[in-house]
Formats: sequence, structure tokens, C-alpha cells
Amino acid sequence: MPNRPRLIAIASGKGGVGKTWFAITLAQALAARGGPVLLFDGDLGLANVDVQLGLTPQHELGSVLSGRVSLAQAVLRHPEGGFDILPGSSGSGTLSGLDPASVEQILSLLRGAGAYDTVLLDLGAGLERGVRRMAAAADTLLTIATEEPTSLTDAYAVMKLYANDARQGDARILVNQATTHAAGLRTYETLRRACVSFLRLDPPLAGIVRRDDRVRDAIRRQSLLLVRHPTCAAAADVEAIAAGLSQRAAA
Ligand SMILES: Nc1ncnc2c1ncn2[C@@H]1O[C@H](COP(=O)(O)OP(=O)(O)O)[C@@H](O)[C@H]1O
Ligand SMILES: [Mg+2]
Repeated sequence: MPNRPRLIAIASGKGGVGKTWFAITLAQALAARGGPVLLFDGDLGLANVDVQLGLTPQHELGSVLSGRVSLAQAVLRHPEGGFDILPGSSGSGTLSGLDPASVEQILSLLRGAGAYDTVLLDLGAGLERGVRRMAAAADTLLTIATEEPTSLTDAYAVMKLYANDARQGDARILVNQATTHAAGLRTYETLRRACVSFLRLDPPLAGIVRRDDRVRDAIRRQSLLLVRHPTCAAAADVEAIAAGLSQRAAA
């Protein structure tokens, strides 16, 4: 039987909550736990994984989809992070602009990426068709919220579409940029109560990542948080989340 990787999608509806940074950091934390990890930059319009990491892709996603190059040829290995990256191509527009057939083609490409245990999808902002489809198709959806009311509303909108599209799925909530762990828990409870009351969905907590200035510093230097500040609060939080996700996979 060929290996079928676990697809973990990261969504939020709202931009600027930390999806890309979290996806990159989780990729490294999961890779450090042993299994090969592929990070797919689903924010195709901005190709922001390349930007945050300072890596220059040689091939576009479009070349893989058209069969001109293989997945193995198109991925970049992060030199320090120990994970691979499939960059979004800046030419092809956003996921939302992709036709449904291309979205399905990307999904089957990622599902068939048997060299990996985990494929992380950084879905980018918005709730358009492509994002919605990939969120529903993932084995695990991590919806990121912050304490900001607009972020809560957008995270709720993600969960609402998910409840409609993928009733039986595994969708969890992740609170990022929490001022304290307790404040993060309150944010989770607020969102959870709305999901239980209006969607009949009771999403578990994937974890809480505290707001930490070292995150900004690492991004500014285009370096990885777990390399630059391996013992800071946000690093510990992401490692705990990676441990929780791995546990579930082993169960
Ligand atoms: N835990 C955190 N602590 C402090 N700042 C954070 C944290 N997570 C994200 N940020 C900040 O949020 C900004 C946006 O992050 P980014 O990953 O680009 O968001 P998104 O992909 O959701 O648009 C980052 O540049 C960083 O400065
Ligand atoms: Mg992003």
C-alpha cells in the first residue's frame, strides 16, 4: 500500500492572524518529531512562504500540474528546517481564482505525495471556493483565531462552511497571538460556544500560541523561530501543538 500522507489545512478567513508563520513553524516542529513533512503554500497569489523564508523557487506549481516537472523536482528543501516546501506560483492567482478542476488536481497531487507523513496546507485568507474545498478535504482542519473580534467572526465563518461541507471531519481551533494562556482559553470558549449553539459542532482546542515578540524578529530576519529562538514562549507552544497532533495520528 502506498503511504497516504495526513493533510492538515490551516485556515482563518482573516489575513494577518499568523497562518503562514504558524504553518512554517509547525512544519519544522513536526519534521523534528521524525516524519517527513511537506508544506504547501496555498496562498498562491502572494506566495508568502517563499517570502517569509527567503527561498527562491525554481519551478511553478503550474509546471507540476501540467506535468512538465515532478513534485519531487518542484519542492524546495528548507536547509535548516528539515521540511520541504511546495511553493505557490505567483503567476497563477489565488486558490479562490483557480477553477475547480485545478483545485482537485492539487488535492490529488498532495494526497499522492507518498514520500511524506504530513502535508500542511497554508490556505491563505478568504473563504472562496478553492479555500473552502481544501479545508473540507483535509484530514484535519486547524482554524486560527485571535482575540480580535473580527478574527473571531471570520474563524466562525470558516467553521460554519466546514460544518456544512464536512460534517464528520476533524476540525480544531487554534488561538494565536494570545496575550496570556487564560485569555487564549477564553477566546477558544467563545468560539466553541458559538459553534455548539449554532452549528452543532464541538471543535476541540488544538492549542494556544502566545503573542511573542520573537515571532516578529524571526520573520523580519527570514529565519525560523525554532532555530532563532528555540526556547521562547511561542516556540514551546507550537511544539506542544505538534506533540498533540502527532499523538492523534499515532492513535
Ligand atoms: N504568536 C505571535 N506573536 C507575535 N506576533 C505574531 C504571532 N503570530 C503572528 N504574528 C505576527 O503576525 C504577522 C502576520 O503573520 P502571517 O503568518 O503572515 O499571517 P497570515 O498568514 O495569517 O496572513 C506576522 O508578521 C507576525 O508579526
Ligand atoms: Mg499568509
